[in-house]
Amino acid sequence: MIKEIDRKLISEDELQRIVSRIAGEIDKAYEGKRLLLLAILKGSVVFMGDLMKKIRIPVEIDFMKVSSYGGDTVSSGHIDIHLDIQRKDISDCDILIIEDIIDSGRTLSYLVEYLKLKGAKSVKTCTLLDKPSRRTVAYNADFVGKIIPDEFVVGYGLDYNERFRALPFIGVLKPEVYQK
Ligand code: IMP
Ligand code: MG
Repeated sequence: MIKEIDRKLISEDELQRIVSRIAGEIDKAYEGKRLLLLAILKGSVVFMGDLMKKIRIPVEIDFMKVSSYGGDTVSSGHIDIHLDIQRKDISDCDILIIEDIIDSGRTLSYLVEYLKLKGAKSVKTCTLLDKPSRRTVAYNADFVGKIIPDEFVVGYGLDYNERFRALPFIGVLKPEVYQK
């Protein structure tokens, strides 16, 4: 194991089973619709890549980059948009936001309102991981991969200060790495 990782929380096999299950739920929910998958950079890229290959209905993709974190493990409470959705007219789009993890709930609740104000036909959310114990804003995603305890996790796209995104599994970061 990598020295900063305490233990593996979700294996590669379990991740694939989770992603397959969510893809099936999305296929059912959006049958006959024009679905736009909107990945939130950078944390959701690995999840998005696996998920879009398993969805059977036709999808289009787009990206936004936002941040609620000041580069550490604590949310700043303020959302900055660094890259906006490219599609100009979203009035005929059913948008599904793809996130890596919900923590305070601020990012997703903000983005849902933002895209609705921009005129999206519908906006729903899909997150790989969920830490419900950390909510400061009452928000729950429509599609959830796995509920996890309040520990800082990395891998499969998720980072600590831009590190560990390329790990193929989800691991728990040793608290001493960020409690310095
Ligand atoms: P929220 O707005 O507090 O829900 O924050 C969501 C964002 O915080 C995610 O997209 C991640 O970038 C980041 N985040 C929250 N918890 C973790 C974690 O355990 N590991 C890595 N990133 C995290
Ligand atoms: Mg991050």
